Amino acid sequence: MRSIINEKNLNNKKILLRLDLNVPLDKNKIIDTNRIDKILPTLNFLIKEKTKIFILSHVGRPKGKIVKELSLKPICEELQNKLGKKVKLITENIKKIKNKNFFNNYEEEIFIFENIRFYSEEEQNDNKFAKLLSNFGDIYVNDAFSCSHRAHASIKEIPKFLPSFSGLQLDLEVNALNKITSDITRPITCIIGGSKISTKINVIKNLIPKFDNLVIVGGMANNFIEFYGNNIGKSIKEKNCDKIIEEITTLSKKEKCKIVYPQDVIVSKNLNGSPKKKDLSEILSDEIILDIGPKTIEKIINIIDKSKTILWNGPAGYFENPNFANGSIQIAKKIIENNKLNKIFSVAGGGDTVSLLNNLDIVDNFNFVSTAGGAFLEYLEGKNLPGITALN
Ligand code: 3PG
Repeated sequence: MRSIINEKNLNNKKILLRLDLNVPLDKNKIIDTNRIDKILPTLNFLIKEKTKIFILSHVGRPKGKIVKELSLKPICEELQNKLGKKVKLITENIKKIKNKNFFNNYEEEIFIFENIRFYSEEEQNDNKFAKLLSNFGDIYVNDAFSCSHRAHASIKEIPKFLPSFSGLQLDLEVNALNKITSDITRPITCIIGGSKISTKINVIKNLIPKFDNLVIVGGMANNFIEFYGNNIGKSIKEKNCDKIIEEITTLSKKEKCKIVYPQDVIVSKNLNGSPKKKDLSEILSDEIILDIGPKTIEKIINIIDKSKTILWNGPAGYFENPNFANGSIQIAKKIIENNKLNKIFSVAGGGDTVSLLNNLDIVDNFNFVSTAGGAFLEYLEGKNLPGITALN
């Protein structure tokens, strides 16, 4: 993998830069700018080298359709403010752009294409679409480690057509994760939560042999709670997961990896409703599980106390509403308490987890914080990520 930082003669080169600007948005407002802040060094480097930049990114999962709420407009404005430079959002259909010579037509030196997932070809890893995108640049740079587990056109396929490099943030994440995985000290506990169940549930099986404890919270825990015979009401869950949960259970026994899932929960009738503490047998059909309960928090705290390494990916509940943030806050507090005492090495990853840590203003108390969620887990799993393989 060649890093763009070592490249000479970039002057005037057109750079096709894949970033992960998938930041949490609420009514077109950015809730957490961490992913934007992290890629500023790469942009500043490319600006200093007098390159011409085309940014590619997705936000959310529009599934090949134009979804107004998932426009990159607020992100483009944020970039403009942070860089102190004009950044132009290209809203025209990429497939219909005839004159690709933007730099002659506009004053700006930075362009950003509208959400690349508005095109179904992106997730289909369409070769022709990648070729078309590649026509905008002389060089491709991937600075989106957090998307590099996706075999998508702007990640896996463009490097087939252009000289390709890693960006500064991608270098940083890969180096840090390599170091962490080679120097790791046991007992190791991995806490997995969040709402992207489909991305994470299949990863768990491969993580079992590597860890001593796997703590499952957030949306994915609902599948486990239901599998073990409890009603989960209207809570989110992934379909057809019984087989994988059976496999996870069998393998965890064989590998002596303890699987922990919630023993009690906090429920409500809706996301803005009032919180109610419940044992698993008490959940009603019109209730939604939105956080872990006190017995579960205590159990997790005990496990953290007995661990030397903690890897945390995904909040324990719907932390956006303070009524359901307690589980995540207690986990975070315990990790940083032990970290300050040098009792553990702590790593956190994922957009929502980082947003939570930023809200609590404790992001600097972790040994390493990755911008990546799914990619972070797959990297820990030892998988070759398509985006990284493409750069090699
Ligand atoms: C992330 O937030 O983990 C990345 O942006 C990838 O998003 P995805 O899970 O929708 O592919």
